[in-house]
Amino acid sequence: MKILYVEDDPKDADLALRALKKYLPEVALDVVGTYQEAVARLEQVTDYDLVLTDLKLPDGDGISLLAHVRELDLPCAVVVVSGKGDEETAVAALKSGADDYLVKQKDYLKTLPITLENAIQRHRAELDLHAHPLRVLYGEHHAADIDLTRRHLAQYAPFIRLKVVNTPPEITQRLLDTKVGEKYDIILLDYSLPGLNTLDLIKEMIQVRRMDVPVVLVTGQGSEDVAVQAIKLGAADYVVKNPGYLFQLPGLLENAFHRAQLVREQAALRESESRFRDLVEHSKDLICTHDLDGNILSANPASARMLGYDLADILKMKLNDFLVLEAGNKYADYIGAIKKDGKSEGLLFVQMRTGERRIWEYQNSLRTEGVAAPIVRIMANDITERKQAEEKIALQIQRLSTLRAIDASIAGSFDIRVTLDVFLQHVTSQLGVDAAIILLLKPGVRTLAYAAGRGFRGSGITQLHLQLGEDYAGTVALERRLISIPDLAVAEPPFSKASLTANEGFVSYYGVPLIAKGQAIGVLEIFHRSRLEPDPDWLDFLNTLAGQAAIAIDSAQSFENLQRANLNLAFAYDATIEGWSKALDLRDKETEGHTLRVTQLTLQMAHLMGISEEDQIHLRRGALLHDIGKMGVPDSILLKPGPLTDEEWTIMRQHPQYAHDLILPIAYLRPALDIPWYHHERWDGTGYPSGLKGENIPLAARIFAVVDVWDALISDRPYRKAWSEKEVFEYIRQQAGLHFDPNVVKTFLKLTGDNNNSA
Ligand code: C2E
Ligand code: SIN
Ligand code: SIN
Ligand code: FE
Ligand code: FE
Repeated sequence: MKILYVEDDPKDADLALRALKKYLPEVALDVVGTYQEAVARLEQVTDYDLVLTDLKLPDGDGISLLAHVRELDLPCAVVVVSGKGDEETAVAALKSGADDYLVKQKDYLKTLPITLENAIQRHRAELDLHAHPLRVLYGEHHAADIDLTRRHLAQYAPFIRLKVVNTPPEITQRLLDTKVGEKYDIILLDYSLPGLNTLDLIKEMIQVRRMDVPVVLVTGQGSEDVAVQAIKLGAADYVVKNPGYLFQLPGLLENAFHRAQLVREQAALRESESRFRDLVEHSKDLICTHDLDGNILSANPASARMLGYDLADILKMKLNDFLVLEAGNKYADYIGAIKKDGKSEGLLFVQMRTGERRIWEYQNSLRTEGVAAPIVRIMANDITERKQAEEKIALQIQRLSTLRAIDASIAGSFDIRVTLDVFLQHVTSQLGVDAAIILLLKPGVRTLAYAAGRGFRGSGITQLHLQLGEDYAGTVALERRLISIPDLAVAEPPFSKASLTANEGFVSYYGVPLIAKGQAIGVLEIFHRSRLEPDPDWLDFLNTLAGQAAIAIDSAQSFENLQRANLNLAFAYDATIEGWSKALDLRDKETEGHTLRVTQLTLQMAHLMGISEEDQIHLRRGALLHDIGKMGVPDSILLKPGPLTDEEWTIMRQHPQYAHDLILPIAYLRPALDIPWYHHERWDGTGYPSGLKGENIPLAARIFAVVDVWDALISDRPYRKAWSEKEVFEYIRQQAGLHFDPNVVKTFLKLTGDNNNSA
């Protein structure tokens, strides 16, 4: 989508630009500030989809610009923007042929993208309604012929829009204008023009300048040999000024135009077919065809790799040899959808030859023209890892918000029972368990007593009272270790206070010690009415929650100041951040391990550069989350195997800003913002997003930049292979003072032991 935006206020222009980029990232926007600039731009660029103009311009107004656009006959929509209170002028603009208007008032930027899209669509539809005229440029010197032709065509072929040029110099100039093919569909040229060699002109146009517009020659009677020469030079057709030739003319022009069109289309088709074959052959995605019975008809090399079969074997297979038929007969659905709509897309569950199951994302389309029986072309790529990573990220985010909610309830209430109730609510829902209780230790008497519970049918459990060391919970507290019982019915020794939970039907059990400042202060017990088979992440989260409960209880019991409690609490989040960053690495397969490596190296650097222990905590979190902003970058860009286009770079460069927006609202991560926000700033001021220079860039980010680039370059990336260590060291040395802080580079080289040839 190509838009010319005429706006003299740079602030308004900037705001609109952002709104558009956000919702229509593929938009190409030219901004000019005055009427004159707009007119000049429209001279150079004739394929704008839309002109968006302010009504009031410093040197003119939007309505005149609208009139100008219409006079030039440009195929673009026009939308005018009026100030508040100027709606009447805007309505007048509509009457003069504007496609829509917007009023600069609160929130108008929100409706801007959709308004523009609609205006473009409406305008295109309108253009289609006025059946395509045939635009003919007619080079002719004889006034009588011009007059006759004009009148004849106006009467019998009004769809022809004739533009006449009648002096030889002007004819030459028009025909050799590089844009003649954009402005006219066909050229009609008289042979006998005074002082002009028409055949030379045709030769220049077609053979020398390779202009892509058909030329029809008009010759006098008896000059057929000239016509033949013209055809040899590439003219599309000729017509002889016999009596009645004007009646032939419209059909002849139309035919010449359609023939030229056909030739162009066929050339384009040949070009795209060979490009398509190439793409299929080298694609990383599976591309194959099959018939409506699912027999595979053709398959590209990637198919073999993705399925784990030989190409020859695949050609003997049917689709349902490898599609996994899960509940609801997916295979029939797949075929059904394509039969019904001619295309379909979604997920396929695929069984590899090795027995492994994969998830594919696919698109297909039905082809019926030009083939004996309908065939389906299917394209698919393997998104198994991506899906798993996404699920993991979603889970981690949910867990982080759970921790925050618990935190908020602790901060908001000094009443330990309220806090524990909220806590248990999160424990049962997030861990997916039926019931949980908290027992608290009364230190003086060394007994554990019920403090809060959730999910029990009866109230017996509230009576629970144990000696330290007695039963499971007593053992958990005394030995300060986790106890897990997969099946209570066969547990040895049995639950001694079983009578309290007799009618509950519990099967699995977990007991976790609550430890604060090295002391056991209670036990968290989990009960489930069927068998629990947790994964390591679940256990980690259980421990994190227990740690958090311990801190909450401790701070409530000892009435310590809330500030410190919150500080300690922050440590409980760190496990979650780490999981989060691992999941992010997973999304971009090739950076696996990158985050942990750069975090370690950054901390070593920080230590050497004298950053305090306390600041190192923030530094660590910042490094773990440095590329969290890449969550906002689509896969098609992040995983693109080649260099990025300008537009893709624009999106990629937003990742630090995106990280900033994500992290800023989380109070305890705010001090860790320096790295995610500024890690792409450069010492010489040419970085992004802020273009900070030298020591204006926070030290943490200056350190991290070196480490990140180091690790990026020694690793394979989707867009290039790894460099050798030697090359990387050379690069880093060379970038000291340009990309990097020279001091940081010095420390880095010392730390990584590359002293051999450092200056
Ligand atoms: P990344 O892959 O983690 O790279 C981090 C930084 O390391 C880059 O920041 C750049 O300063 C440095 N770096 C990485 N590879 C090269 C390289 O081949 N040559 C040089 N001279 N420096 C390199 P930068 O350039 O701001 O890029 C930010 C992110 O944008 C990259 O993170 C990557 O995700 C993406 N990206 C950059 N170039 C491309 C590309 O050509 N294709 C694709 N698909 N993504 C790219
Ligand atoms: C935190 O995540 O730091 C606690 C809640 C908040 O302050 O946003
Ligand atoms: C940080 O807070 O990210 C580290 C402190 C520093 O910039 O020195
Ligand atoms: Fe980055
Ligand atoms: Fe990185």
